[in-house]
Amino acid sequence: MTTKIFLTEQEMPRQWYNLAADLPTPLLPPLGPDGKPISPDMLSAVFPGNLIEQEVSSQRWIDIPEEVLELLCLWRPSPLYRARRLEAALKTPARIYYKNEGVSPAGSHKPNTAVAQAWYNKQFGIKRLSTETGAGQWGSALAFACSLLGLECKVFMVRISYEQKPYRRLMMEAWGGTCVASPSPETQAGRDILARYPDTPGSLGIAISEAIEAAVTDPTGKTRYSLGSVLNHVMLHQTIIGLEAKKQLEKAGEKKVDAVIACAGGGSNFAGISFPFVLDKIHGADIQIIPVEPASCPTMTRAPFVYDHGDTARMTPLLPMHSLGHAFVPAPIHAGGLRYHGMSPLVSQGIVEGLITPRAYQQLRCYEAGVLWARTEGFIPAPETCHAIAATIDVANQAREEAKERVILMNWSGHGLLDLTGYQKFLAGELQDHALPEEELARNLRLLEALPRADARKTGRW
Ligand SMILES: Cc1ncc(COP(=O)(O)O)c(C=O)c1O
Repeated sequence: MTTKIFLTEQEMPRQWYNLAADLPTPLLPPLGPDGKPISPDMLSAVFPGNLIEQEVSSQRWIDIPEEVLELLCLWRPSPLYRARRLEAALKTPARIYYKNEGVSPAGSHKPNTAVAQAWYNKQFGIKRLSTETGAGQWGSALAFACSLLGLECKVFMVRISYEQKPYRRLMMEAWGGTCVASPSPETQAGRDILARYPDTPGSLGIAISEAIEAAVTDPTGKTRYSLGSVLNHVMLHQTIIGLEAKKQLEKAGEKKVDAVIACAGGGSNFAGISFPFVLDKIHGADIQIIPVEPASCPTMTRAPFVYDHGDTARMTPLLPMHSLGHAFVPAPIHAGGLRYHGMSPLVSQGIVEGLITPRAYQQLRCYEAGVLWARTEGFIPAPETCHAIAATIDVANQAREEAKERVILMNWSGHGLLDLTGYQKFLAGELQDHALPEEELARNLRLLEALPRADARKTGRW
């Protein structure tokens, strides 16, 4: 009985998959402050030219540079596991497989794009990267990648996570990075927010504003900003997960996948595992493709498809996406990496098209699922990952009720070994559910009324 399905380093995919090449209705363009589509060079103060090229590319397959492959080989290919003990506990006829992205040095999927982004920046002559981090996973991944490539790394960490997760900051420092709580007094964006809301828990939107400001105001011109999710090139780099999984499922003898499930904050681990399967669905395969979010930050399930900024201080271009509004500050739930107001435009367009069908779960359900996972499969999942597990359990239970064999593929996006405070509170009965009140959603969405409208275009095939 096989539990882990491996690939050799030689079997690792040599190209990333770009969903932009196959979307049935193309992405709307990002818009500048004047409401007109931005040209790639308008992004050049923020990102290096080689990553901007990837951001706007419509080429289907993009070669992974040899040196990036070598760096990825530090932990890739990641194992595909069959969750047999969870299947037995659920008494489900479903076969549950999961990609274990927790095996990376930083403990999540984030290094897949961190090493690629650091490499492309270095090629472009950049010396220092600035970024934001929610749960600390992305900040630690980028600090790790920068240490491999000899770049400086500056991280603005959402204050609530900075306080809840001191060990993530220490990891960044161990890899030579610098980490400050956001909002910080170091940037104009941070100072403005602190003056108005001195007790704010912070948000990814605010931290992104600070990190972009730190990049564009560097007088040497050698700092660029790096984003851990949302953008097309980040989704692209993560597709190595789904491409590996396809080969591994084949090795396991599976001919068909019925459901692909991952949690989604900005969309990158979800895109990574699912986009190669979205391609199959576009070509007729019958697959449920399910991103999962917290009910307290219901970007995909309750927010409209709009043009909105990616950050609170409105420094980013307007992106076509599902958004709760750039001013939205989510409740301080423990899944810090899922507290973001927007969603990747590629994922959002997949939702509009009906190819991707999101779900939202409350915090307590997710921790229950995480604890059941830990007690059956052993590994303790990150609170973000618990969302994917909760949905996986529901799909597996449905398979039992319908007495159907189903193949479920889940992305186990990261371990929770530095997130034990959340588990402690859950086990002590101190955690509460939280759903976003309708008035708060409406208030934040009113701010978008002055922005250009995004046309939700779809073919109607799904
Ligand atoms: C373990 C883990 N999973 C998921 C996410 C969500 O991010 P994304 O939607 O970009 O995959 C994060 C973000 O920090 C994370 O740390």
